[in-house]
Amino acid sequence: MAGNLPSKFIIGSLITLFCLFLLAQIILSSALTLGSKTLPKEKKSKVTAVERIQPIGQVYIGDASVVPQQIVEIDEDISSGQKITTAVCSRCHGSGLMKSPKIGKEKDWTARLKKGKATLYANAINGINKMPARGGKKSLSDGDVKAAVDHMLASLK
Ligand code: HEC
Repeated sequence: MAGNLPSKFIIGSLITLFCLFLLAQIILSSALTLGSKTLPKEKKSKVTAVERIQPIGQVYIGDASVVPQQIVEIDEDISSGQKITTAVCSRCHGSGLMKSPKIGKEKDWTARLKKGKATLYANAINGINKMPARGGKKSLSDGDVKAAVDHMLASLK
């Protein structure tokens, strides 16, 4: 019997090893299935792999297609008459400086409107009394000054 002991020991240890191997297999496979079960959950989360690999410190410039449209809209809304009035004429006509007819104040314009638009244009272009020719800005064209006059008169209605 003593001679059988080593072989019994070997067989016993082999069985034990086999059992351990099986156990390891079970643990490993269950770990794998657990892992694969958690994967779809991660996919559902809003952070995608693409987002994870984005560089840090990106500048958000909004929807690029929207930005140029807004600029175009602003350009359309502000007429050249309004721009010139704001930049040149409102210096005096905004507050009624030097008794100039005030923008938007109908009473200041009624007597002047009776002269006719053509006269108002001409006086704005050539100047009258303290009203400097072209509002003091010589680079303005006749059309620019007329547009500014039109804008001032439109603000009365
Ligand atoms: C330095 C101040 C000043 C600036 C700048 C100015 N004006 Fe005048 N404006 C006057 C004064 C003062 C009067 C009144 C003149 C008067 O009737 O004695 C006047 C009068 C006018 C009148 C009425 C003219 C009339 O026949 O009754 C028009 C139109 C006019 N301005 C247009 C403009 C326009 C357009 C601009 C800008 C391009 C402008 N003004 C810039 C001072 C100014």
